[in-house]
Amino acid sequence: MRTAATWDPRQYLRHSGHRARPFHDLLARIPDPAPRPGGPRVVDLGCGSGNVTALLAARWPTAHVTGLDSSPEMLAEAAAHAGPTPGGGRLDFARADLTDWTPAEPLDLIVSSATLQRVPGHAGSFPAWTAALTPGGTLAFTVPGNFRAPSHTLLRELCGSARWRDRLGGLHGTGHVLEPADYLGRLTALGLTVDAWETTYSHLLTGPDPVLDWTKGTALRPVLTALSGDPGATEEFLASYAELLRGAYAAGPHGTVFPFRRVFVVARRPA
Ligand SMILES: C[S@@+](CC[C@H](N)C(=O)[O-])C[C@H]1O[C@@H](n2cnc3c(N)ncnc32)[C@H](O)[C@@H]1O
Repeated sequence: MRTAATWDPRQYLRHSGHRARPFHDLLARIPDPAPRPGGPRVVDLGCGSGNVTALLAARWPTAHVTGLDSSPEMLAEAAAHAGPTPGGGRLDFARADLTDWTPAEPLDLIVSSATLQRVPGHAGSFPAWTAALTPGGTLAFTVPGNFRAPSHTLLRELCGSARWRDRLGGLHGTGHVLEPADYLGRLTALGLTVDAWETTYSHLLTGPDPVLDWTKGTALRPVLTALSGDPGATEEFLASYAELLRGAYAAGPHGTVFPFRRVFVVARRPA
């Protein structure tokens, strides 16, 4: 049996500026929750290291914001952001598996960034999640939509090659992401007003093998976990993948352009 991929918050945060950009773009489209005593109740599904969860607390200073995640490594990093917020709200974190998570109380806002692609069947949870929204409440999320990009197709091919198939075959999947129109259809059918769109960012990365460095924080986690304890194999795999990536993402005079498609959904319950 394969061990669940372990996360490395430090590696993940190496590209935090680029990674946070879609969160800012999502946040800009989220309407303010209706006022309620004690401030809005907000949950961030798959909060990771907590840096984007803290942006929710900054946007709604009176809110009680809870970040949920299944990774002890990420939650340990997120703990640094926990506590009362200057506007009288508070920020806390808890361990949860989103596969079977359902809200235990009415929520004004459910947010998720770069996480639901790792939760198979997450759209099946939409009825339970949106039923917990207060009138005028919002479900807002962004997921990567780049599983057909070279960074992923090359990784899948390498894992499935004769050299690695026995140890890594099937390890790297295609993500559990729907098209914007599919999300829109499902959430509209639940009675919500939906704004769904996609954006392809052109991230300009610098340094040697920057796309490899980016994927070490995300797509490569399952491979690095599976090969941990075998430095020789890890080095060999990374050298092969780096060479493939160099062919797909050429370095230019100003750096390496890394196109990254993302899908966005903001769905609001009628007030
Ligand atoms: C790429 S990180 C995103 C972190 C943060 N939301 C951000 O935008 O930077 C994905 C996070 O989803 C979490 N995750 C993946 N599957 C999960 C699950 N089934 N339940 C809870 N968290 C999960 C991982 O532990 C990880 O912290």
